Amino acid sequence: MGKATAVANPNIAFVKHWGKADEALNLPANPSLSMNLAALTTVTTVEFRPGQASDVIVIDGQPATGQALDRAVGHLDRVRALAGTPFGRARAMVASRNDFPAATGLASSSSAFAALTLAATQAAGLSLDEAGLSRLARLGSGSACRSVPAGFAFWELEEAHQVAPPEHWDVRDAIAIVTTQAKAVGSQDGHALAQTSPLYTARLAAVPEWLAAVRDGLARRDLAAMGPAIEADALAMHGVMMTSQPSLLYWLPATVAVLQAVRAWRAGGLEVYFTIDAGPNVHCLCRAADAGEVEKRLKAVPGVQEVVVSGPGAGVRAVDWHLF
Ligand code: PMV
Repeated sequence: MGKATAVANPNIAFVKHWGKADEALNLPANPSLSMNLAALTTVTTVEFRPGQASDVIVIDGQPATGQALDRAVGHLDRVRALAGTPFGRARAMVASRNDFPAATGLASSSSAFAALTLAATQAAGLSLDEAGLSRLARLGSGSACRSVPAGFAFWELEEAHQVAPPEHWDVRDAIAIVTTQAKAVGSQDGHALAQTSPLYTARLAAVPEWLAAVRDGLARRDLAAMGPAIEADALAMHGVMMTSQPSLLYWLPATVAVLQAVRAWRAGGLEVYFTIDAGPNVHCLCRAADAGEVEKRLKAVPGVQEVVVSGPGAGVRAVDWHLF
C-alpha cells in the first residue's frame, strides 16, 4: 500500500475568517485573503498499513492524543471514504514535523491539514487537483484550504484560489513571538462563539470594504493602501472574540506593547502594519527592504521572545523523501 510525503507552509490572513456559515461543511461566514509563510514548514508522511489496528499519529515526535488525534483520524476517514477499497479499511501511520521554532504557539493547523490532505490522498492512490485538495483540506481546518495554492490565496466558499503567486511581491511578515505557551481556546472552538458577540454582524458588514482595499493594495504591491484595512480587520476580529460569551482574550501585555510600537514606528516613517491570529503573537507586515530594521526593533520590545521573518511561500507540494 502507498506511502507519501507532503510539505506545506502555514498562512497568515490579511482579512480573517472568524465564524461559520455552515459548521458541518466548514463554510466561512466571510471571505478571507492570506499569504503563505515560506519560513515555516510542516512535513507530513502518511502510510496506509493493512493489518494495523488503529491510526497512529506522531506530531513532532509525540504521539497525538485527545482533540489533535480525533481531528487527524477524522480527516483520514474522509480520505478513506474517497479512496474506497482497499484503503477504506486500512489504518495509517502518520508522522508530522513542524519546522517552527519549538512550541511557539504559531498557528499550525493550516499547514498541518494542507500537508495531511496531500500526503494522505497520494498515499491512498488518489490524485486530486488543487481545488479538490483545497476543498478537502477545508474540512480538516478552514484556514488549511488557503495553504494549498501558492502565494496569496482567497477563500470565499468551498475552496481557496490563488490571487497572486509568491513571486508577485516580496512582502515580509516579521512575527513577534511573545509567548511559547499553547492557547487555552483554539480557533475550532472559538468560531462557534463568534455569533454570541454583539459586534459579530458589524464586523461582517465591514469586511467587503476591507477586502477591496487589501485586494487593491496586493494588486499594486502597495502596503500603505492595504495596511489600515488589515489592522482594522484584525482589531475587529479580536473585538468579536473579546465580546463573545464566554469572552476570548488572547492578548498579553507584550501584544499591546508591539501594537503600540508598530504605530509609533509608522508615525516615524517606517512602513509597517500589524495583524494578529487567534493568539497573542503579532505579525508585522513590511517591505523586504525594511525587514531587518523591523526585526531589530521588535527584538527590543520588552516581552518579545523571538522574531521570525518570512516572505510569501509556495503551495502544498509532494516530495520524494519520507519521515519514516
Ligand atoms: O480556519 P481555522 O479554523 O483554522 O481558523 C483560523 C482563524 C484565524 O487564524 C484567527 C483567522 C484566519 O483566517 O486565519
